[in-house]
Amino acid sequence: MVLDRVPLHPIVEPVQKKVYIESYGCQMNVSDSEVVASILAKDGYTPVKSAEEADLVLLNTCSIREKAEYTVLQRINEMNNLKARNKGLKVGVLGCMAERMREDLLEKKKVVDLVVGPDAYRTLPDLLEKVGTGQKAVNVLLSREETYGEIEPVRLDTNGVTAFVTIMRGCDNMCAFCVVPFTRGRERSRDAESIVRECAQLVRDGYKEVTLLGQNVDSYKFASPQPLSKGEGLSEQHISQEKVDFADLLEMVALACPTLRIRYSTSHPKDMTDKVLAVMARYDNICKYIHLPVQSGSSDVLKRMNRGYDRAWYLERMASIRRHMPDCAISTDIIAGFCGETEEDHEATLALIREVQYDMAFMFKYSERPKTLAARKYPDDVPEDVKGRRLAEVIETQKAASAQRMLGYVGQLHEVLVEGVSKRSAENVFGRNSQNSIVILPRYADGVELTPGTFVKARIDSATPGSLKGSIHSIVSTLALPA
Ligand code: SAH
Ligand code: SF4
Ligand code: F3S
Repeated sequence: MVLDRVPLHPIVEPVQKKVYIESYGCQMNVSDSEVVASILAKDGYTPVKSAEEADLVLLNTCSIREKAEYTVLQRINEMNNLKARNKGLKVGVLGCMAERMREDLLEKKKVVDLVVGPDAYRTLPDLLEKVGTGQKAVNVLLSREETYGEIEPVRLDTNGVTAFVTIMRGCDNMCAFCVVPFTRGRERSRDAESIVRECAQLVRDGYKEVTLLGQNVDSYKFASPQPLSKGEGLSEQHISQEKVDFADLLEMVALACPTLRIRYSTSHPKDMTDKVLAVMARYDNICKYIHLPVQSGSSDVLKRMNRGYDRAWYLERMASIRRHMPDCAISTDIIAGFCGETEEDHEATLALIREVQYDMAFMFKYSERPKTLAARKYPDDVPEDVKGRRLAEVIETQKAASAQRMLGYVGQLHEVLVEGVSKRSAENVFGRNSQNSIVILPRYADGVELTPGTFVKARIDSATPGSLKGSIHSIVSTLALPA
């Protein structure tokens, strides 16, 4: 065919490049990967679901324990094979390991082209340009201000029902065992209005649940440079408020998004206030679930950990939670075998688990991290086999506590938000109750399929330490919420 008209300028289609982002570590990394996807979308990258399809692979990494880093180092090795097959492939390391290891990562792993710390993601397009010319690129500058506040995240791997919204970054606490203050820098809070706006957008996009994220949400504080403006559902009581703490923020989101379920993580026992508990108790759409890491049941160990509370303070906070919300579930984190931990200290942790009766716990062996207070000050003196035995005892004790808590739910009616089809059986769906326990339900109720995003009133029929099984009492809503 002969064209009789030739465009004066050739039409240049923007080249669509493909990025695959893999997240390790905590929910903050999952949320950061969505910010990265948004920044890269403006640079012509579309997210893909496997490393094999990608032009750029980004590993968003975690340094919390040595094992977490080891997993990533193994994964980086696998990239060598991929690069052999796809010569144009670029490999980047983001997140906490990038921040901790910096240029050393390039030395150690030749396959890596790019190293970017958690506060430097806005510079990714420039760094990628450099990488495109065959050079290596590194930016690990930490910031006192960066919150990526106005960036609208691109939701990755989403179930369309639940989402994360980061409300603050960094941590000022300096717990003796923890690498986070070194990898994430100083604590800073994100603009309250941009948080409310992002939650309102989630509702418009059909999401039913949000988890507000920070390393220590209780120390959230935002001083607005000007009074907050009307709009985006901010209630009268919050307009013209200049200082917003975490309790205020929770209330703002609860009022602005009354149909959205709200969760948050992580609380810190030394900072958790009764004001927050009162707000949680006041609003039905704030889930009755608190993750309150204790780390140890021994006041001596807590002191060496520099946690800022002792056993008695922690138990008083637990009592306050139960006073405000008798139906509130509590989960925790525990470290077994921290420096100087005696059998007596360990027994104190087991006794605390029995006393509190956590719904759930994340339990770890202590892993010394470079530069931390503990690495500098205390010998890592609990032998590996003792750490292992203590961790097993912690897990065993917690399993019994979980079983007890879960059994207590049998016979009750719970509101469950359906998240998807059960991995074990296509006849069932799974969701969560307000207390954050997994609830398995039949997929069909009177011929109606329970699709993700449906709220169901379910009767709890049986329990295991890890999940509940229920039957459908009534369907609360299957409708998309009004725009
Ligand atoms: N900001 C949260 C925790 C972040 S890290 C808080 O303050 O609770 C998540 C959990 O990892 C911690 O609660 C702790 O239990 C565990 N952890 C952190 N550093 C660790 C280390 N060096 N060894 C073993 N576990 C660790
Ligand atoms: Fe680490 Fe402590 Fe900060 Fe949590 S509060 S991130 S454990 S330093
Ligand atoms: Fe890991 Fe960094 Fe989160 S060290 S736990 S990814 S803040």
